[in-house]
Amino acid sequence: MTEQDYDLSLVEGARAARKQAYAPYSNFRVGAALRTKSGKVFYGVNVENASYSLAICAERSAAVAAVTAGELEFEEIAVVADTERPTTPCGACRQFLIEFSPTLKVVVANTSKVHFVQPLTALLPCAFDADTLES
Ligand code: THU
Repeated sequence: MTEQDYDLSLVEGARAARKQAYAPYSNFRVGAALRTKSGKVFYGVNVENASYSLAICAERSAAVAAVTAGELEFEEIAVVADTERPTTPCGACRQFLIEFSPTLKVVVANTSKVHFVQPLTALLPCAFDADTLES
């Protein structure tokens, strides 16, 4: 993996953000850093709840922060967990993110290395989208 494939500062931002994860039930801490088209970076962590199903993933937290700031076009997201195997965005997060940017670059990393970089469309082919609603 060469450095020009991804934004290293985004990976480092996701690693730093991960420390704020609220994951007392799973102890599985995830951080995300999302860069929008305007160059701004938004961070997210997983936030769990005693009512387990209410947990929100780091990726969606970051997307919600961006949208709250009026940013609707996403360029690149780095996702970091402390796992040997890649922690990839869950299906719900893939659908949530593709609403804004099918071309989003997804960087999957852990605390010490980058596992892979993929466009979101490769992770979620044939996604349901707004165009389908109107056809
Ligand atoms: N989680 C994320 O935040 N992102 C992922 O990509 C995978 C899973 C969270 C949800 C839950 O808080 C914990 O990790 C275990 O599933």
